[in-house]
Amino acid sequence: MSEEKRAHWGSRVGFVLAAAGSAVGLGNIWRFPYITQENGGGLFVLLYLAAVIFIGLPVMLGELAIGRHTQSNPVGAYRSISRRWRFLGLLGVITGFCILSYYSVVAGWTLAYIVKSVNGALDPAGFGHFVAEPFTQVVYLAVFIFLTCFVVVWGVQKGIERMSKILMPLLLLLLLALIIRGLTLPTAAAGLKFYLLPDFSQISMKVFLLAVGQAFFSLSLGMGAMLTYGGYINKGDNLLKSASAVVCFDTSIALLAGFLIFPVIGHGLTKGGPTLVFVTMIEQFNQMSGGQWLAAMFFVLLAVAALTSTVSLLEVVTAYLIDEWKLSRNLSVILTGLFCFAFGVPSALSLGASDFFSSIVFGKGFLDIMDFVFGNLSLTLGGLLMCIFIVYRWGIDKASTEVLSGAPGFGRFVPVWRVLLGFVVPASIVVMLLYMIITGGSL
Ligand code: PHE
Repeated sequence: MSEEKRAHWGSRVGFVLAAAGSAVGLGNIWRFPYITQENGGGLFVLLYLAAVIFIGLPVMLGELAIGRHTQSNPVGAYRSISRRWRFLGLLGVITGFCILSYYSVVAGWTLAYIVKSVNGALDPAGFGHFVAEPFTQVVYLAVFIFLTCFVVVWGVQKGIERMSKILMPLLLLLLLALIIRGLTLPTAAAGLKFYLLPDFSQISMKVFLLAVGQAFFSLSLGMGAMLTYGGYINKGDNLLKSASAVVCFDTSIALLAGFLIFPVIGHGLTKGGPTLVFVTMIEQFNQMSGGQWLAAMFFVLLAVAALTSTVSLLEVVTAYLIDEWKLSRNLSVILTGLFCFAFGVPSALSLGASDFFSSIVFGKGFLDIMDFVFGNLSLTLGGLLMCIFIVYRWGIDKASTEVLSGAPGFGRFVPVWRVLLGFVVPASIVVMLLYMIITGGSL
């Protein structure tokens, strides 16, 4: 057995912070606010909360249980229970690699915007120009992947756990400071109203399905990140408490991000979408006194959130290479980093820098396609298959035994868990996939 296989978190808090670090990312601070804005404000928030409780939490618990039971990377984990299912682990590793490649592009933008803020060179109209500069895009991608590799090379306790213990409290602090400033703005009341009052006339299948997809993405479920982190949890730890803590942490940060963004942008009608934080927020910051420094803080917040997530994506691939290919941690990290950079370049060039990559399929750019295929389809498909695996192959009894060790009170929830994993989650995902196919992926 290699030394890495015996790696464990130093403490339960260490695990919770690392897993929350994986979960809290651009998904919370960049994606959640703009999807909320585009889909009915408060109504989306309500549906999202329902998706987190009834879908996110049970799936998180299942994924952690597989991880701790097998103490392995995703491929080894599924294989040790059923050889036939190892493909699902491989799907997870590939998904992790692919998400890392394009996620690092957007993460790189946050670094560039820290530099721009500090230099006092923030220009909301400059975003389109910025993303179309090939050299800048590739350099920031490389820098972000390098930072991620730097943390993962140090290993589970010395790298990931230590980073999370420092960066997660910092993230919370920055977020709270920015919220307090935002709430004093004249736009705050209108923004909060849009954010908190659900407009039920907007209810639709699409909004519901978006909420489910967002829950998967935001909680890092369905591709083996939580499974891999779960593999480093000690046997006696309470999985139910840990899973609940991570889910609460992630959801609170998403909700808090709303309390930051909406008061700043005012009512919900401003043009938003994916450029919400890079254009609309900057317009607002530019109008405030000291806005340059607030903007710098805001982008540090985004960069920190992104880094703790890319670290978990890289750790999935690294754990796989260490366990299955018997490579050293250093070599695994370096190889993955290099390949990921190479594979990230088409995404980095797909917002105008290269005409070819900017409209590669159906007029959509490479990054958009990657996000749709891996950030949406693959995560939900992976989650669907994982639920089927737990309930109908591994067996809910064995899965529950794993949870019960350390959480004896879980017994009375087992029947509910079985219904959620065996029916509610798969049914929601199947409807979602069908809907996406029928509407041509226009979720
Ligand atoms: N949960 C992360 C976010 O919200 C993204 C992510 C997805 C990270 C899947 C790891 C695995 O930004």
